[in-house]
Amino acid sequence: MNDYRRIADLVAEDIASGRLRPGDRLPPQRAFARRRRIAPSTAGRVYAELVRRGLVVGEVGRGTFVRAAPPPSGRALAEPATAAPVNLELNYPVMDGQSELLGNALTPLLRPDVLADATRTAPAAGTPRAREAVAALLARECGGGQSGAWSPAPDRILFTGNARQAIAGALASLSRPGGRVGVESLTYPLVKEIAERLSVTLVPLASDEEGILPAALETAHRRAPLSALYVQPTLHNPTSLTTTGRRRQELADAVRHLGLPVVEDRIWSFLHTDAPPPLAAYAPERTYVVDGLSKRVAPGLTVGFLVLPMPMPMPMPMPMPVPTAVQTPVPVPVPVPASAGAPGTGSGGGHVAATLRSGGWTASRFALEAAVRWIEDGVVDRLVAAKRADAARRQRLVAEHLDGFAVRADPYGYYVWWELPPPWRADTFTAAAAERGIAVTPGSAFAVGPGAAPDAVRLGLASAPPPDLAAALRTLAEAARHG
Ligand SMILES: Cc1ncc(COP(=O)(O)O)c(C=O)c1O
Repeated sequence: MNDYRRIADLVAEDIASGRLRPGDRLPPQRAFARRRRIAPSTAGRVYAELVRRGLVVGEVGRGTFVRAAPPPSGRALAEPATAAPVNLELNYPVMDGQSELLGNALTPLLRPDVLADATRTAPAAGTPRAREAVAALLARECGGGQSGAWSPAPDRILFTGNARQAIAGALASLSRPGGRVGVESLTYPLVKEIAERLSVTLVPLASDEEGILPAALETAHRRAPLSALYVQPTLHNPTSLTTTGRRRQELADAVRHLGLPVVEDRIWSFLHTDAPPPLAAYAPERTYVVDGLSKRVAPGLTVGFLVLPMPMPMPMPMPMPVPTAVQTPVPVPVPVPASAGAPGTGSGGGHVAATLRSGGWTASRFALEAAVRWIEDGVVDRLVAAKRADAARRQRLVAEHLDGFAVRADPYGYYVWWELPPPWRADTFTAAAAERGIAVTPGSAFAVGPGAAPDAVRLGLASAPPPDLAAALRTLAEAARHG
């Protein structure tokens, strides 16, 4: 049995029958996973599902407990997560008429001779046409061009099944088991699971309102060397923070000084039309950009992109320095050998491509061919424009219904971070929302490392139809005010 919802049903039965009583503590997730012979990540999903159903509450540092309140109705007990009436947890936007647009662009792919090609395998570097199409898309969105902000070279692009696989591939090739990767102290939850699977420790780094503090990065690296930094500088999920241009420059200086590679996750960045250039523009020789089509288009037929750092020319031999009494150490950028061979194979690209291959993380050729058609036919640009407008509309609903609460949001973003009014705690509020048929994500899902998780929830605005979203926001505001 590997469906986490069925396992959650079994625990729910134990609670309903009294075998597990209010206040009982569930075993730690790892012990639960061992006992049920499931992966720790599946155990995590079982526990999240039980929180969602309002049956248990998780207390950071203490464990997970059966709720003292009477369990909710039988319907809630049996309901799978995907059938939650209003899902503010899953966050994939879909536009009206999207399927027609996508389908029309796919028609030429279905010709037998074209399909024969589209169903072959594809290497991690995809096809020349796919690399050109994606390079042009990213350059358009990042103000790229001859004198533009960022314009990736087509031969630096690799393809994965989705952005999560690009993150996994990048981290697997940059860090060994036992390694340490710096991240924002609140981060995309799946990065936590990916790191656990790779036996990599995530090191939370403090931020201020401009982004990660370079001093926090330097201190963490000095304590024990980091192997990489994973960041979301634009529309950070969950807080919506966009790192300022000044801080991007400071971070670029810091990673260069420390010799660290950076994984820049830009899956949500397409929404922002006036963010500073990607971190990759500030530290091109060490930044791996993660992006993909799952948010721009759809998660069920998507590809992820992993843009490799630009090769740095080998430094010219330096004249011998004249010895002086006191030598100040000068930070030296770590040189990367110039690109050679097939696309995506130079500058460490061969290693990354091999990691993607051996991890089973390369894109399917059909998805790649579909992506090429959608990009070349302008379908992606149209969906991007529609989704930007849609996100702005949904943010206006939040501004209207959650007025007066401490909500961190960006008018370009598809989520908001709601710091709950006391005495609410994130897990009990999540349970209260679930009782009202609304799935939200508690702050603990995003928190890295020990320490109290914030009493905040993330509301994903993308998936629910706007009238349902508005009703859910009204219900949640009411619950937050009156308990
Ligand atoms: C920050 C971030 N990165 C990556 C992903 C995953 O993208 P994909 O579905 O392409 O794997 C998400 C999905 O929500 C995300 O929020």
